[in-house]
Amino acid sequence: MKKIVLVPLVLLMFVAAAPPKKDAYPRACVDCHAKERKLSTLMAKPDAALAAKLQPLAPKGVKLTGKHPAVAFAFKDVPAKCMTCHSATSKTAPQFPLLIHTIHVPDAHAECTNCHKFDGGEMRVPSGGE
Ligand code: HEC
Ligand code: HEC
Ligand code: HEC
Repeated sequence: MKKIVLVPLVLLMFVAAAPPKKDAYPRACVDCHAKERKLSTLMAKPDAALAAKLQPLAPKGVKLTGKHPAVAFAFKDVPAKCMTCHSATSKTAPQFPLLIHTIHVPDAHAECTNCHKFDGGEMRVPSGGE
């Protein structure tokens, strides 16, 4: 089911990426989350509302508190270092693609190509330090 939905979405992404225009967020996450919107700043504040919204994505038996563990090392390489804990098999944290899409896509905080870049024949999410 998931795959059937994703294939047309991925094709749409390619169409959306077609016209060559200047990319305001070449490094994705860290280029949009800059200045007062830095992730290290946003994520330092406990956020119960965000935790409640993301609770359905948590691994079985995990109750999200909205208080993120300290991850100074991860802000040096976003999202690559985030994904070490937010893996598909994590027992403590929601898996990353679901988490990130749920935060940004339904609320129109970002478009597909703000994060996914066409690179060497593939769509990739670049990673970088803030
Ligand atoms: C085009 C801009 C844009 C891009 C690119 C983007 N985001 Fe966001 N993100 C937002 C906005 C807008 C919000 C809503 C909260 C705010 O900044 O006020 C948000 C919210 C978040 C939050 C919730 C923060 C909180 O505690 O309230 C996290 C975590 C997050 N983004 C991580 C990421 C990661 C990781 C990436 C890259 C994979 C990324 N974002 C790419 C715009 C963006
Ligand atoms: C050391 C492991 C670890 C790393 C690295 C990590 N996370 Fe998390 N993350 C967690 C855990 C554990 C939770 C559940 C926290 C809770 O709510 O009690 C979580 C929860 C979240 C949530 C849901 C809101 C919340 O606080 O519960 C968001 C959003 C999030 N992480 C984003 C990120 C981003 C973006 C990065 C990279 C900058 C990142 N995480 C790196 C372990 C990690
Ligand atoms: C805020 C950043 C962000 C936005 C916006 C975003 N994505 Fe993603 N997406 C990611 C990240 C991070 C991953 C995980 C890393 C990877 O797969 O390279 C991911 C993974 C994926 C995957 C692989 C799925 C999986 O479970 O591994 C697909 C397909 C995808 N995105 C499609 C989309 C489509 C279609 C849109 C627009 C409707 C979109 N994404 C918008 C950040 C984003």
